Amino acid sequence: MVHYSRSDLDKLPSRFKSNLINSCTGYKACNLLGTVSKEGTTNLAIFNSIIHIGSNPALLGFILRPLTVRRDTYENLRQNGCFTVNHVNKSIMEKAHQTSAKYEKQISEFEKTGLTAEYIDDFQAPYVKESTIKLGCHYENAYEIKENGCLLIIGSIHHIYLPENIQHTDGWVQLDKAQTLSGVGLDGYALPELLTRLAYARPDEFN
Ligand SMILES: Cc1cc2nc3c(=O)[nH]c(=O)nc-3n(C[C@H](O)[C@H](O)[C@H](O)COP(=O)(O)O)c2cc1C
Repeated sequence: MVHYSRSDLDKLPSRFKSNLINSCTGYKACNLLGTVSKEGTTNLAIFNSIIHIGSNPALLGFILRPLTVRRDTYENLRQNGCFTVNHVNKSIMEKAHQTSAKYEKQISEFEKTGLTAEYIDDFQAPYVKESTIKLGCHYENAYEIKENGCLLIIGSIHHIYLPENIQHTDGWVQLDKAQTLSGVGLDGYALPELLTRLAYARPDEFN
């Protein structure tokens, strides 16, 4: 078995260490965050740190890298309070990855990648037309992670758009039917296969 101790990790070359640490925590959600600046320039960026924070109220969070350089997504969502979360599916994988490139602020990643910005129900941030599962969120709060200067951004979910045929009668959304991808590290993309759904676990009902 391969083993890395903390002192081994400290000695690894930075790219190797980044690949190891980014992938060893498991498969991640893969989403495009859509925002718009006050000048009207749309922005799109891939994020793999979106997490469920709570259902009541409906909240999500994501990790933003330290504000040591320009962060367009963050600047835009702080200015107008809105952002969209758009699932990456197989058909837009390469375009989605390209949004991680550091384009100038006045350049829109929508235009550069050919993904289509769409505004739905007067929401103040652009969705990705080619994405089939999308959420409209309001900025709620930002918490500094003191250990490394990252921010945990909290958003409340105000809109959810789904294809007709992928939701079960109990509310659960079958993501494989939408070909939603998950990410491995910062450059691997996978198409998960659903194995099963299990009953709510109770202590006396396991055999
Ligand atoms: C697969 C992948 C996942 C990423 N996830 C995050 C993330 O969770 N948080 C983050 O701050 N940057 C993440 N990035 C980097 C951003 O996509 C990148 O910094 C982008 O340029 C940010 O754009 P912006 O300045 O327009 O906000 C990720 C990059 C890739 C390729």
